[in-house]
Amino acid sequence: MSCKIDYQARPDLLAGRVILVTGAGDGIGRAAALSYARHGATVILLGRTTAKLEATYDAIEAAGGPQPAIFPLNFEGATLKDYHDMAETLDKEFGRLDGILHNASLLGRLTPFEQYDPALWEQVMQVNINGPIWMTQALLPLLKAADDASVVFTSSSVGRKGRAFWGAYAVSKAATENFSELLADELENVSNIRVNTLNPGATRTQMRKTAYPAEDPQKLRTPDEIMPTYLWLMGLDSQGHSGERFDAQPPKS
Ligand SMILES: NC(=O)c1ccc[n+]([C@@H]2O[C@H](COP(=O)([O-])OP(=O)(O)OC[C@H]3O[C@@H](n4cnc5c(N)ncnc54)[C@H](OP(=O)(O)O)[C@@H]3O)[C@@H](O)[C@H]2O)c1
Repeated sequence: MSCKIDYQARPDLLAGRVILVTGAGDGIGRAAALSYARHGATVILLGRTTAKLEATYDAIEAAGGPQPAIFPLNFEGATLKDYHDMAETLDKEFGRLDGILHNASLLGRLTPFEQYDPALWEQVMQVNINGPIWMTQALLPLLKAADDASVVFTSSSVGRKGRAFWGAYAVSKAATENFSELLADELENVSNIRVNTLNPGATRTQMRKTAYPAEDPQKLRTPDEIMPTYLWLMGLDSQGHSGERFDAQPPKS
């Protein structure tokens, strides 16, 4: 596992690249969308709350970034047809896709497994792993149409080692790690698509606050501060890396 916290991205690192960011309306996804646009990418903003996506859109425009696109989609109710319609729309608009940051996730509830609500379990698995998997399948032809495409799945420390009370969230992140490795292995040598996972580490967002209500958020890095690895993975400097696990923050000493 490695971390690129000291990576310094060139201002034009992502110029001309078309990158889809899920959960782009809040937290880390919003910061990544803004950061990718600041480095020249045309960003497709996907999420479930249109007003939040519009706020990200406005912030990109105000900063003078390339005009983004908004794609409202809720992984909870989305169907295979939605993903294929999406691929058709993106094909017409851009003809290819240079990157996907799978970032949207639901925490669910921190509770002993004995009391875990099966309906909530299904919901978390749908949003965190099943939806993103089928969306990726539908978008593969567009990724293949790019000269170099990077797919990044967001993981978590509880996806690498299971931890009490983290329920479906932990299991969905473990599945994310495995799926990413499986896809990277299948695509190696037969495409220009690389697939990796990235664990942001403890970051000052609403999800973190919900998981750790007693923690002082000021002691955590902000989403903006963890962007170097997000940028490195999306640009050409990470070519040749696939099927690997990355951390956005150095391990605590
Ligand atoms: N923050 C941390 O300390 C931390 C640590 C390890 C891993 N992570 C991972 O980092 C990623 C970002 O987390 P975050 O902390 O930035 O969380 P966040 O602030 O809660 O943002 C999550 C994003 O996912 C979107 N989302 C949730 N359910 C969705 C659905 N059904 N369909 C489409 N979009 C949906 C949310 O949309 P709305 O805004 O509309 O709700 C929001 O934009 C997640 O994958 C998380 O598991 C975070």
